[in-house]
Amino acid sequence: MERIKSVLTKFKEVFGSGESKVFLARAPGRVNLIGEHTDYNKGFVLPIAINQEIIAAFLPRQDRLISLCSSNFSSFCQFSLDEVTYNEKEHWANYVKGVIRVLQEEGVRLSGMSMVLEGDIPIGVGLSSSAATEIVTAVSLQIINGFTISPLEMVKLCQKAENEFVGVNCGIMDQFTSLLGEKDRALFLDCRSLEYKQIPLLFMENLRIVICNTRVNRRLAKSGYYNDRRRECAEGVSHLREFLPEIDTLRDVTIDSFEKYKHHLPGNIKKRCRHVVRENDRVVQAVAALGEDNLGKFGDLMNESHQSLRDDYEVSCNELDLMVEIAREIDGVLGARMTGAGFGGCTVNFVEKKSINQFHKIVTEKYKKETGIQPEIYVCQAKNGAGEIVQ
Ligand code: GLA
Repeated sequence: MERIKSVLTKFKEVFGSGESKVFLARAPGRVNLIGEHTDYNKGFVLPIAINQEIIAAFLPRQDRLISLCSSNFSSFCQFSLDEVTYNEKEHWANYVKGVIRVLQEEGVRLSGMSMVLEGDIPIGVGLSSSAATEIVTAVSLQIINGFTISPLEMVKLCQKAENEFVGVNCGIMDQFTSLLGEKDRALFLDCRSLEYKQIPLLFMENLRIVICNTRVNRRLAKSGYYNDRRRECAEGVSHLREFLPEIDTLRDVTIDSFEKYKHHLPGNIKKRCRHVVRENDRVVQAVAALGEDNLGKFGDLMNESHQSLRDDYEVSCNELDLMVEIAREIDGVLGARMTGAGFGGCTVNFVEKKSINQFHKIVTEKYKKETGIQPEIYVCQAKNGAGEIVQ
Protein backbone atom coordinates (compact mmCIF):
# COMPACT_ATOMS: atom_id res chain seq x y z
CA MET A 1 0.00 0.00 0.00
CA GLU A 2 1.31 3.40 -1.07
CA ARG A 3 0.69 5.22 2.20
CA ILE A 4 2.44 2.55 4.27
CA LYS A 5 5.50 2.86 2.08
CA SER A 6 5.45 6.61 2.28
CA VAL A 7 5.05 6.75 6.06
CA LEU A 8 7.87 4.22 6.53
CA THR A 9 10.12 6.18 4.21
CA LYS A 10 9.39 9.33 6.17
CA PHE A 11 10.10 7.56 9.45
CA LYS A 12 13.48 6.36 8.23
CA GLU A 13 14.30 9.77 6.85
CA VAL A 14 13.43 11.57 10.09
CA PHE A 15 14.41 9.12 12.81
CA GLY A 16 16.40 6.38 11.12
CA SER A 17 15.48 2.93 12.38
CA GLY A 18 18.71 0.94 12.56
CA GLU A 19 17.91 -2.73 12.67
CA SER A 20 14.55 -2.34 14.36
CA LYS A 21 11.34 -3.12 12.60
CA VAL A 22 9.13 -0.05 12.69
CA PHE A 23 5.63 -0.60 14.07
CA LEU A 24 2.56 0.53 12.17
CA ALA A 25 -1.00 1.29 13.20
CA ARG A 26 -4.01 2.85 11.52
CA ALA A 27 -7.23 4.60 12.56
CA PRO A 28 -10.05 5.60 10.21
CA GLY A 29 -12.17 8.73 10.01
CA ARG A 30 -15.93 8.38 10.15
CA VAL A 31 -19.06 9.60 8.47
CA ASN A 32 -22.34 9.66 10.31
CA LEU A 33 -25.25 8.35 8.22
CA ILE A 34 -27.92 9.65 10.59
CA GLY A 35 -28.26 10.72 14.25
CA GLU A 36 -26.67 14.16 14.42
CA HIS A 37 -26.14 16.06 17.65
CA THR A 38 -27.68 13.15 19.50
CA ASP A 39 -24.55 11.58 21.02
CA TYR A 40 -24.06 14.15 23.80
CA ASN A 41 -27.81 13.90 24.48
CA LYS A 42 -27.25 10.19 25.17
CA GLY A 43 -29.23 9.24 22.07
CA PHE A 44 -28.64 7.09 18.98
CA VAL A 45 -26.16 7.45 16.13
CA LEU A 46 -25.44 5.44 12.99
CA PRO A 47 -21.94 6.17 11.67
CA ILE A 48 -19.50 4.15 9.58
CA ALA A 49 -15.70 4.07 9.75
CA ILE A 50 -14.45 5.16 6.33
CA ASN A 51 -11.57 4.29 4.03
CA GLN A 52 -9.81 7.59 4.72
CA GLU A 53 -7.47 7.04 7.63
CA ILE A 54 -4.38 8.06 9.56
CA ILE A 55 -1.37 5.78 9.61
CA ALA A 56 1.27 5.92 12.32
CA ALA A 57 4.82 4.55 12.08
CA PHE A 58 6.54 4.40 15.46
CA LEU A 59 9.28 2.97 17.66
CA PRO A 60 9.89 3.15 21.40
CA ARG A 61 12.79 5.32 22.61
CA GLN A 62 15.20 4.85 25.48
CA ASP A 63 14.68 8.40 26.80
CA ARG A 64 11.57 10.17 28.10
CA LEU A 65 10.89 12.06 24.88
CA ILE A 66 7.95 11.89 22.55
CA SER A 67 9.16 12.96 19.15
CA LEU A 68 6.46 13.53 16.54
CA CYS A 69 6.38 14.32 12.88
CA SER A 70 3.31 14.91 10.73
CA SER A 71 3.78 14.37 7.01
CA ASN A 72 0.57 16.26 6.30
CA PHE A 73 1.60 19.41 8.12
CA SER A 74 5.33 18.95 7.43
CA SER A 75 5.89 19.77 11.06
CA PHE A 76 7.63 18.40 14.13
CA CYS A 77 6.97 18.45 17.81
CA GLN A 78 9.04 17.09 20.67
CA PHE A 79 8.28 17.07 24.37
CA SER A 80 9.07 15.16 27.52
CA LEU A 81 6.66 12.69 29.07
CA ASP A 82 7.21 14.67 32.26
CA GLU A 83 5.92 17.90 30.76
CA VAL A 84 2.87 17.41 28.56
CA THR A 85 1.31 20.82 28.04
CA TYR A 86 -1.18 22.26 25.57
CA ASN A 87 0.29 24.53 22.93
CA GLU A 88 -2.11 26.38 20.66
CA LYS A 89 0.47 26.56 17.88
CA GLU A 90 0.93 22.79 17.75
CA HIS A 91 -2.57 22.15 16.51
CA TRP A 92 -2.39 18.45 15.51
CA ALA A 93 0.15 17.47 18.18
CA ASN A 94 -2.27 18.50 20.94
CA TYR A 95 -4.43 15.47 20.13
CA VAL A 96 -1.43 13.20 20.66
CA LYS A 97 -0.46 15.04 23.82
CA GLY A 98 -4.01 14.85 25.16
CA VAL A 99 -4.05 11.06 24.89
CA ILE A 100 -0.65 10.80 26.58
CA ARG A 101 -1.80 13.07 29.38
CA VAL A 102 -5.02 11.16 30.12
CA LEU A 103 -3.25 7.80 30.02
CA GLN A 104 -0.67 9.08 32.50
CA GLU A 105 -3.41 10.44 34.72
CA GLU A 106 -4.86 6.92 34.72
CA GLY A 107 -1.52 5.72 36.07
CA VAL A 108 -0.29 4.13 32.83
CA ARG A 109 3.53 4.15 32.61
CA LEU A 110 4.72 5.15 29.17
CA SER A 111 8.11 4.99 27.51
CA GLY A 112 9.39 7.54 25.01
CA MET A 113 8.36 7.16 21.38
CA SER A 114 9.25 8.43 17.93
CA MET A 115 6.26 8.63 15.65
CA VAL A 116 5.33 9.77 12.16
CA LEU A 117 1.69 10.37 11.28
CA GLU A 118 0.32 10.54 7.77
CA GLY A 119 -3.26 10.45 6.57
CA ASP A 120 -5.79 11.28 3.91
CA ILE A 121 -8.71 12.37 6.09
CA PRO A 122 -9.38 15.98 5.14
CA ILE A 123 -8.90 18.15 8.20
CA GLY A 124 -11.63 20.20 9.87
CA VAL A 125 -14.46 19.06 7.60
CA GLY A 126 -16.40 16.79 9.94
CA LEU A 127 -14.80 13.43 9.07
CA SER A 128 -13.09 13.10 12.46
CA SER A 129 -9.43 13.48 11.65
CA SER A 130 -8.97 14.52 15.29
CA ALA A 131 -10.62 11.40 16.73
CA ALA A 132 -8.55 9.26 14.34
CA THR A 133 -5.38 10.99 15.56
CA GLU A 134 -6.31 10.29 19.17
CA ILE A 135 -7.22 6.68 18.52
CA VAL A 136 -4.12 5.91 16.43
CA THR A 137 -2.02 7.42 19.22
CA ALA A 138 -3.69 5.28 21.90
CA VAL A 139 -3.34 2.13 19.79
CA SER A 140 0.35 2.87 19.09
CA LEU A 141 1.12 3.56 22.74
CA GLN A 142 -0.59 0.34 23.72
CA ILE A 143 1.47 -1.63 21.22
CA ILE A 144 4.82 -0.42 22.55
CA ASN A 145 3.91 -0.20 26.23
CA GLY A 146 1.74 -3.29 26.47
CA PHE A 147 -0.78 -1.89 28.97
CA THR A 148 -4.19 -3.48 29.30
CA ILE A 149 -7.18 -1.36 28.49
CA SER A 150 -10.56 -2.37 27.07
CA PRO A 151 -11.70 -0.88 23.75
CA LEU A 152 -14.45 1.01 25.55
CA GLU A 153 -11.98 2.49 28.04
CA MET A 154 -9.75 3.53 25.15
CA VAL A 155 -12.66 5.27 23.45
CA LYS A 156 -13.59 7.10 26.65
CA LEU A 157 -10.02 8.18 27.36
CA CYS A 158 -9.63 9.57 23.85
CA GLN A 159 -12.90 11.47 24.22
CA LYS A 160 -11.65 12.77 27.56
CA ALA A 161 -8.42 13.92 25.88
CA GLU A 162 -10.44 15.95 23.40
CA ASN A 163 -12.84 17.31 26.05
CA GLU A 164 -10.34 18.21 28.72
CA PHE A 165 -6.97 18.69 27.02
CA VAL A 166 -7.96 20.07 23.62
CA GLY A 167 -11.06 21.76 25.04
CA VAL A 168 -13.68 20.58 22.53
CA ASN A 169 -16.70 19.24 24.34
CA CYS A 170 -17.52 16.52 21.78
CA GLY A 171 -19.67 13.44 22.35
CA ILE A 172 -18.46 9.87 22.11
CA MET A 173 -19.44 8.97 18.52
CA ASP A 174 -16.23 9.83 16.67
CA GLN A 175 -13.74 7.98 18.85
CA PHE A 176 -16.13 5.04 19.18
CA THR A 177 -16.46 4.66 15.43
CA SER A 178 -12.77 5.11 14.70
CA LEU A 179 -11.98 2.19 17.01
CA LEU A 180 -15.01 -0.06 16.72
CA GLY A 181 -16.37 0.47 13.21
CA GLU A 182 -16.57 -2.64 11.02
CA LYS A 183 -16.12 -3.32 7.36
CA ASP A 184 -19.39 -3.19 5.38
CA ARG A 185 -21.34 -2.38 8.52
CA ALA A 186 -22.80 0.69 10.15
CA LEU A 187 -22.42 1.10 13.89
CA PHE A 188 -25.77 1.53 15.63
CA LEU A 189 -24.71 2.99 18.96
CA ASP A 190 -26.83 3.76 21.96
CA CYS A 191 -24.89 6.60 23.57
CA ARG A 192 -26.66 6.09 26.92
CA SER A 193 -25.88 2.41 27.53
CA LEU A 194 -22.96 2.34 25.06
CA GLU A 195 -24.37 -0.90 23.69
CA TYR A 196 -23.98 -1.23 19.97
CA LYS A 197 -24.93 -3.39 17.03
CA GLN A 198 -23.12 -3.74 13.74
CA ILE A 199 -25.74 -3.33 11.01
CA PRO A 200 -24.80 -4.99 7.70
CA LEU A 201 -24.91 -2.66 4.71
CA LEU A 202 -26.43 -5.19 2.37
CA PHE A 203 -27.12 -2.63 -0.32
CA MET A 204 -23.51 -1.95 -1.23
CA GLU A 205 -23.83 -3.77 -4.55
CA ASN A 206 -26.22 -1.18 -5.99
CA LEU A 207 -25.73 1.85 -3.86
CA ARG A 208 -22.84 4.05 -2.82
CA ILE A 209 -22.34 6.27 0.18
CA VAL A 210 -20.92 9.50 -1.20
CA ILE A 211 -19.38 12.31 0.83
CA CYS A 212 -19.33 15.83 -0.63
CA ASN A 213 -16.93 18.25 0.97
CA THR A 214 -18.15 21.86 0.72
CA ARG A 215 -14.59 22.89 1.55
CA VAL A 216 -15.99 25.41 3.96
CA ASN A 217 -13.88 24.75 6.99
CA ARG A 218 -15.83 24.57 10.21
CA ARG A 219 -13.00 24.50 12.69
CA LEU A 220 -13.02 28.18 13.62
CA ALA A 221 -16.71 28.31 14.34
CA LYS A 222 -16.87 24.94 15.99
CA SER A 223 -16.44 25.15 19.71
CA GLY A 224 -18.59 28.24 20.20
CA TYR A 225 -21.86 27.15 18.67
CA TYR A 226 -21.32 23.49 19.56
CA ASN A 227 -21.15 24.34 23.25
CA ASP A 228 -24.13 26.69 22.84
CA ARG A 229 -26.20 23.83 21.50
CA ARG A 230 -25.17 21.59 24.36
CA ARG A 231 -26.23 24.26 26.81
CA GLU A 232 -29.57 24.76 25.07
CA CYS A 233 -30.27 21.02 25.25
CA ALA A 234 -29.46 21.01 28.97
CA GLU A 235 -31.78 23.97 29.44
CA GLY A 236 -34.53 22.07 27.62
CA VAL A 237 -34.06 19.14 29.98
CA SER A 238 -34.35 21.32 33.07
CA HIS A 239 -37.61 22.86 31.80
CA LEU A 240 -39.07 19.49 30.84
CA ARG A 241 -38.10 18.00 34.20
CA GLU A 242 -40.81 20.05 35.86
CA PHE A 243 -43.30 17.81 34.05
CA LEU A 244 -41.17 14.73 33.46
CA PRO A 245 -39.09 14.39 36.66
CA GLU A 246 -37.70 11.01 35.59
CA ILE A 247 -35.69 12.33 32.62
CA ASP A 248 -31.91 12.84 32.72
CA THR A 249 -31.29 13.80 29.10
CA LEU A 250 -33.29 14.47 25.93
CA ARG A 251 -32.84 10.82 25.08
CA ASP A 252 -35.37 10.04 27.78
CA VAL A 253 -38.05 12.20 26.16
CA THR A 254 -40.47 10.47 23.77
CA ILE A 255 -42.07 12.26 20.84
CA ASP A 256 -45.45 12.06 22.60
CA SER A 257 -44.28 13.59 25.85
CA PHE A 258 -42.37 16.27 23.96
CA GLU A 259 -45.54 17.18 22.04
CA LYS A 260 -47.47 17.31 25.29
CA TYR A 261 -45.12 19.69 27.10
CA LYS A 262 -43.33 21.58 24.33
CA HIS A 263 -45.40 24.75 24.77
CA HIS A 264 -43.64 25.28 28.12
CA LEU A 265 -40.30 25.65 26.34
CA PRO A 266 -38.87 28.98 25.13
CA GLY A 267 -38.80 29.29 21.28
CA ASN A 268 -35.24 28.31 20.40
CA ILE A 269 -35.00 25.71 23.13
CA LYS A 270 -38.18 24.10 21.81
CA LYS A 271 -36.62 23.83 18.34
CA ARG A 272 -33.37 22.34 19.63
CA CYS A 273 -35.23 19.75 21.70
CA ARG A 274 -37.58 18.89 18.82
CA HIS A 275 -34.58 18.12 16.64
CA VAL A 276 -32.97 15.81 19.17
CA VAL A 277 -36.16 13.96 20.13
CA ARG A 278 -37.16 13.37 16.51
CA GLU A 279 -33.63 12.63 15.32
CA ASN A 280 -33.37 9.81 17.84
CA ASP A 281 -36.58 8.38 16.48
CA ARG A 282 -35.28 8.74 12.92
CA VAL A 283 -32.18 6.69 13.75
CA VAL A 284 -34.32 3.86 15.10
CA GLN A 285 -36.51 4.01 11.99
CA ALA A 286 -33.44 4.14 9.74
CA VAL A 287 -32.00 0.98 11.29
CA ALA A 288 -35.36 -0.76 10.76
CA ALA A 289 -35.40 0.46 7.16
CA LEU A 290 -31.93 -1.03 6.56
CA GLY A 291 -33.15 -4.33 7.97
CA GLU A 292 -36.05 -4.32 5.53
CA ASP A 293 -33.81 -3.20 2.68
CA ASN A 294 -36.09 -0.18 2.36
CA LEU A 295 -33.55 2.30 1.10
CA GLY A 296 -36.18 4.74 -0.13
CA LYS A 297 -37.32 5.11 3.46
CA PHE A 298 -33.73 5.48 4.66
CA GLY A 299 -33.18 8.27 2.12
CA ASP A 300 -36.36 10.07 3.23
CA LEU A 301 -35.15 9.97 6.83
CA MET A 302 -31.81 11.46 5.77
CA ASN A 303 -33.66 14.27 4.02
CA GLU A 304 -35.80 14.93 7.10
CA SER A 305 -32.70 14.93 9.26
CA HIS A 306 -31.16 17.67 7.14
CA GLN A 307 -34.29 19.79 7.30
CA SER A 308 -34.35 19.47 11.04
CA LEU A 309 -30.65 20.36 11.40
CA ARG A 310 -31.20 23.35 9.16
CA ASP A 311 -34.45 24.72 10.61
CA ASP A 312 -34.64 23.48 14.19
CA TYR A 313 -31.07 22.87 15.30
CA GLU A 314 -29.75 25.64 13.04
CA VAL A 315 -26.29 24.21 12.44
CA SER A 316 -26.33 24.10 8.64
CA CYS A 317 -25.01 26.86 6.37
CA ASN A 318 -25.68 28.08 2.81
CA GLU A 319 -23.04 25.87 1.24
CA LEU A 320 -24.31 22.72 2.97
CA ASP A 321 -27.91 23.53 2.01
CA LEU A 322 -26.88 24.17 -1.56
CA MET A 323 -24.90 20.92 -1.76
CA VAL A 324 -27.92 19.00 -0.46
CA GLU A 325 -30.34 20.72 -2.86
CA ILE A 326 -28.13 20.05 -5.88
CA ALA A 327 -27.78 16.39 -4.91
CA ARG A 328 -31.50 15.84 -4.38
CA GLU A 329 -32.33 16.98 -7.90
CA ILE A 330 -30.13 14.29 -9.43
CA ASP A 331 -31.69 11.04 -10.59
CA GLY A 332 -30.62 8.11 -8.48
CA VAL A 333 -30.08 10.08 -5.25
CA LEU A 334 -32.10 8.52 -2.44
CA GLY A 335 -31.17 10.94 0.33
CA ALA A 336 -28.77 13.76 1.19
CA ARG A 337 -27.93 15.52 4.42
CA MET A 338 -25.22 17.47 6.19
CA THR A 339 -23.10 15.26 8.42
CA GLY A 340 -20.98 15.98 11.49
CA ALA A 341 -21.15 19.06 13.67
CA GLY A 342 -22.23 21.47 10.90
CA PHE A 343 -21.51 25.06 9.82
CA GLY A 344 -19.43 23.79 6.93
CA GLY A 345 -17.81 20.44 6.34
CA CYS A 346 -19.48 17.63 4.44
CA THR A 347 -22.76 16.17 3.25
CA VAL A 348 -23.47 12.45 3.05
CA ASN A 349 -25.51 11.06 0.17
CA PHE A 350 -27.04 7.72 -0.80
CA VAL A 351 -26.53 7.42 -4.55
CA GLU A 352 -27.40 4.55 -6.89
CA LYS A 353 -24.25 3.06 -8.32
CA LYS A 354 -25.32 3.67 -11.90
CA SER A 355 -25.70 7.42 -11.22
CA ILE A 356 -22.30 8.00 -9.63
CA ASN A 357 -20.61 9.56 -12.64
CA GLN A 358 -23.49 11.88 -13.30
CA PHE A 359 -23.65 12.77 -9.62
CA HIS A 360 -19.99 13.66 -9.60
CA LYS A 361 -20.29 15.82 -12.69
CA ILE A 362 -23.47 17.69 -11.77
CA VAL A 363 -22.51 18.37 -8.13
CA THR A 364 -19.08 19.61 -9.12
CA GLU A 365 -20.36 21.88 -11.89
CA LYS A 366 -23.32 23.37 -10.09
CA TYR A 367 -21.62 23.83 -6.73
CA LYS A 368 -18.64 25.49 -8.35
CA LYS A 369 -20.85 27.74 -10.44
CA GLU A 370 -22.79 28.95 -7.40
CA THR A 371 -19.95 29.29 -4.90
CA GLY A 372 -16.73 29.50 -6.90
CA ILE A 373 -15.43 26.60 -4.79
CA GLN A 374 -14.32 23.29 -6.30
CA PRO A 375 -15.92 20.65 -4.06
CA GLU A 376 -14.32 17.34 -3.21
CA ILE A 377 -16.34 14.19 -3.68
CA TYR A 378 -15.43 10.84 -2.14
CA VAL A 379 -17.21 7.56 -2.77
CA CYS A 380 -16.63 5.81 0.51
CA GLN A 381 -16.59 2.32 1.92
CA ALA A 382 -17.29 1.15 5.45
CA LYS A 383 -13.99 -0.12 6.89
CA ASN A 384 -12.72 -1.77 10.04
CA GLY A 385 -11.85 0.35 13.04
CA ALA A 386 -8.32 1.04 14.24
CA GLY A 387 -5.58 -1.51 14.90
CA GLU A 388 -2.01 -2.54 14.32
CA ILE A 389 -0.93 -3.09 10.74
CA VAL A 390 0.99 -6.33 10.78
CA GLN A 391 3.38 -6.55 7.85
C1 GLA B 1 -18.97 16.38 16.25
C2 GLA B 1 -18.71 15.75 17.60
C3 GLA B 1 -19.55 14.48 17.78
C4 GLA B 1 -21.02 14.75 17.48
C5 GLA B 1 -21.18 15.48 16.14
C6 GLA B 1 -22.60 15.90 15.86
O1 GLA B 1 -18.50 15.56 15.24
O2 GLA B 1 -17.34 15.45 17.74
O3 GLA B 1 -19.37 13.97 19.08
O4 GLA B 1 -21.62 15.48 18.51
O5 GLA B 1 -20.36 16.63 16.08
O6 GLA B 1 -23.43 14.80 15.69
